[in-house]
Amino acid sequence: MLYFDNNATTPIAPEVLAVLQQVQAEVYGNPSSIHRAGQEARRCVETARAQVAQLLGCDPKEIVFTSGGTEADNLAIFGAGPGHVVTTAIEHPAVLAAAHAHGDCTVVPVSSDGLVDPDDIRRALRPDTRLVSVMHANNETGAIQTLTRHEGILLHSDGVQAAGRMPVNVRELGVDLYSITAHKFNGPKGVGALYVRDGVKLAPILHGGRHERERRAGTENVAGIAALGAAAALPLPNVKALRDRLEQGVLARIPHAIVNSAGAPRMNNTSNIRFEGIEGESLVIALDLAGIAVSTGAACSSGAVHPSHVLTAMGLTPAQAKCSMRFSVGRFNTEQQVDTLLDTLEKAVARLRKLSPVYTHA
Ligand SMILES: Cc1ncc(COP(=O)(O)O)c(C=O)c1O
Repeated sequence: MLYFDNNATTPIAPEVLAVLQQVQAEVYGNPSSIHRAGQEARRCVETARAQVAQLLGCDPKEIVFTSGGTEADNLAIFGAGPGHVVTTAIEHPAVLAAAHAHGDCTVVPVSSDGLVDPDDIRRALRPDTRLVSVMHANNETGAIQTLTRHEGILLHSDGVQAAGRMPVNVRELGVDLYSITAHKFNGPKGVGALYVRDGVKLAPILHGGRHERERRAGTENVAGIAALGAAAALPLPNVKALRDRLEQGVLARIPHAIVNSAGAPRMNNTSNIRFEGIEGESLVIALDLAGIAVSTGAACSSGAVHPSHVLTAMGLTPAQAKCSMRFSVGRFNTEQQVDTLLDTLEKAVARLRKLSPVYTHA
């Protein structure tokens, strides 16, 4: 399988898998127990906390472990307390649905490149605004947002697509809350973290024991957390040249292909391209039959008949959104794989366009 869907999830790195297996097999204590077995588990958790803090440029005590990005986003939004929330039209459902469930929220639009205008955020603020949530990098287009903090209002950023892939320093970003998840940077699924700036009051959403400084009850996922730490300690993937080879190859070889968010600062692993006259889902299936994994957008919405809410928020028509494909490169991809992808893609697009009743350039 040639895997070009790293924004959906990434393969676990061998050194991370080794930590996961070793801790799962051997470290069975409860980190809250005072005996030696407990203390050994506690050490694993605290080592990982330091590794994650190092990745994000913060203090270990500012890290709260969660079950992943979705929980981190929900903890940020609900934990901030009651009040108006401002967010954006291109957020992941973990933020958008949480903000709507939380209550009163304003959703600001984006430009045709998928960028949020900080002035639009400012104009949406109200005296009762409690939290602004703007994602750092978009999962479908890779567009990187400018984050602006407003006095007296908490700033949350969903950094799930950015952390472990590009340099992130939460102090420089000026955020109060920042979500990450291990499985987007070669760690296991089901474990993540929320950065909570020292001094920010955050209420728990899970009630129970006094774990994680009373911010997240429940016995820690020790092996998962240790593996998250190990993934955080990996060098950042160096994939820009591969992504550029892929994108430039597509544009050179396939006519009527347009890069979405081309004018935005973008993650160096992501290329979202629309192929006129094609059903994205058909192309996904054609590539899958050839052993290549790509997607039409967010993993959680593929298979859905609805066009991407991110692309339509950028002003694409539903038809344009549905002919868009997301290629996301990861640390284990090679030039040869990119070249195989390009050969297969060129043929598949040509074949599907021949059959397409809506392709007008034939
Ligand atoms: C931008 C973004 N936020 C949140 C999530 C949810 O993270 P998780 O799958 O760890 O719950 C994802 C990915 O699935 C994502 O891409």
